[in-house]
Order: sequence, then structure tokens, then C-alpha cells
Amino acid sequence: MDIQFDFSGKTVVVFGGTTGINLSIAEAFAQRGADVAVSSRRQDNVDAAVERLGKHGGKVLGYAADVRDMEAVAGVFEAVRSEWGPVDVLVSGAAGNFLAEANGLSSNGFKVVVDIDLNGTFHVLRAGFEHLSPGASVISLTAPQAVIPMRYQAHVCAAKAGVDQLTRVLALEWGARGIRVNAISPGAIADTEGFTRLSPPDDPEGKRIARNVPLRRLGTKDDIASLAMFLSSSAASYISGAVIPCDGAGALDAIKP
Ligand code: HXC
Repeated sequence: MDIQFDFSGKTVVVFGGTTGINLSIAEAFAQRGADVAVSSRRQDNVDAAVERLGKHGGKVLGYAADVRDMEAVAGVFEAVRSEWGPVDVLVSGAAGNFLAEANGLSSNGFKVVVDIDLNGTFHVLRAGFEHLSPGASVISLTAPQAVIPMRYQAHVCAAKAGVDQLTRVLALEWGARGIRVNAISPGAIADTEGFTRLSPPDDPEGKRIARNVPLRRLGTKDDIASLAMFLSSSAASYISGAVIPCDGAGALDAIKP
């Protein structure tokens, strides 16, 4: 990443931060001096992420918690606060997805994705609010499915549309406290679980998908981490309520007439 940001002395909490895009975001903060806490469902992923993030020399904490469980999420914030004080940057990135025709989705199949992606985001932001420092930056990870209807993604489309609106409403409600609330909408990002799950079986490396992106390449996890750094820096101090695609213009192309 060829941009310079300094988060020394800042406390960052990343939900879903033990793998994929969210781990790259956590690592970018750790490389720039922040104290970073990560949380996700599986203890083995938490342990591996804490070890990796610890190599950057800063303080690191990790907690196993399921974002579907509001009390567990609140417990993460209480633990981080008692160790480090208020939270300066909060990233809500936990997500779940699978391809399924709407006709093939059980009530529980639809619910589980809404519970993780939408209700989980609410839990993280709602439980986190009282622990945020004045001027904190809050970032949710959304997806192009929020605005682009996609086959076999009814559950994700519905959930992520909710995440977009939640972002805007909380920006309205929390602005008076100086808290900025934004969302990042990653496009097709290479080497991620999401991309692997959604890329066609005959195009596992995404070459055809990349050719269709206006910028003619897949995104990288660094592309997303760069945007998270920017949004959490003073350079973005007047940006709130924004849902920002980071997708090489892929979403725009998908909704062309
Ligand atoms: C139909 C399915 C299904 C499928 C699961 N279900 N997979 N239905 N087709 N392929 C149904 C199950 O039958 C069950 O309903 C219900 O969903 C819950 O499934 P469980 O496996 O019991 O749930 P759980 O263990 O909580 O797992 C959650 C999960 C799983 C979302 C289903 O895939 C998961 O844990 N994923 C986490 C990792 C992940 O998805 N990462 C990708 C994130 S990428 P019944 O009725 O049988 O009980 C991402 C980006 C989005 O989200 C945008 C990308 C561009």
C-alpha cells in the first residue's frame, strides 16, 4: 500500500477481522501503529489472526464471538474498553453467504444470512456506540448486492440493502457526536472466501470476471484496506453517511441500461 497514514495510539476493533478482507484491514491498521482487536466466530481463526497481527509490534487482542449474539458482541467491547479505553475505529465486517435460488431457501436459510449480515451489523454498531470515542470512525462492509439484484442472492441482497440504509440512518443520528458512519462496498476481490463462493466454477481465477470490470482487473484486499485507512483518517473528516464502492466501476457497469 503506497499511502501513508498514522494510527499510533488509536484503538481499532474489527468484527470479522480474523480472515479475508477484514483481516487485511486489521493488518493495515496494525502496520500503522494502532492497537487492534479482532473478533470472529471461530477461536482457531482468532488465535491465528492474533499471532499474525502481533508481528507488527503493536498491541493485539482477539475474542471469539458470534455477531448474531448481541450480548457476546457487547462483551467484546467491554473487554477492549477495560484494556485500552474507548474505540476510535470500529469496523463491522462479519458476513455469511452462499448461492441459493430463492425457491430453494428455507426460512432458516434466509434468516441466517440476514442475522449475520444485517442484524449482526446492527448488534456491532448498537453495542459499540457507547464505547466510541468522540470523532470515531465507523465502517461497515456492505456489497454490490445491496443495489444490484443478483440471481441466487435474494438473502444477501435483502440483508446488504439494509446495511446501506443503516449506515445512512446512523450517520444522521450520530453526527452530532462527531461520529462518522460509512460503508465500503467491495466488488470482486481476489483471494477471498466471498469471491471463491460466488465465482463461476469455469472461471475460478476470475479471468473472465476481471475482463468485464471497467478497470480490467480484480480488486485486491489492499484496495479495500486503503479505503478503510482513508475513511478513518482526518483526510475524510467531512465524509459520513457514504456508501462507497471499491470495485473498479464494476457495479456501475452492472446497472447500465
Ligand atoms: C440453501 C443453505 C445453503 C445453500 C446453508 N443453507 N447453505 N440453503 N443452499 N447452499 C441453509 C441451511 O440449510 C440452513 O437452513 C441454514 O442455511 C443455516 O445453515 P447452517 O450451516 O446451519 O448455518 P451456520 O453454521 O450458521 O452457517 C452460516 C452460513 C455459512 C452463512 C450458512 O455459509 C457460513 O458460516 N459462512 C461463513 C463464511 C462465509 O459465508 N463467508 C463468505 C462471506 S463473503 P435449514 O432450514 O436447513 O436449517 C460475503 C460477501 C458477500 O458475505 C458479497 C460478496 C460479493
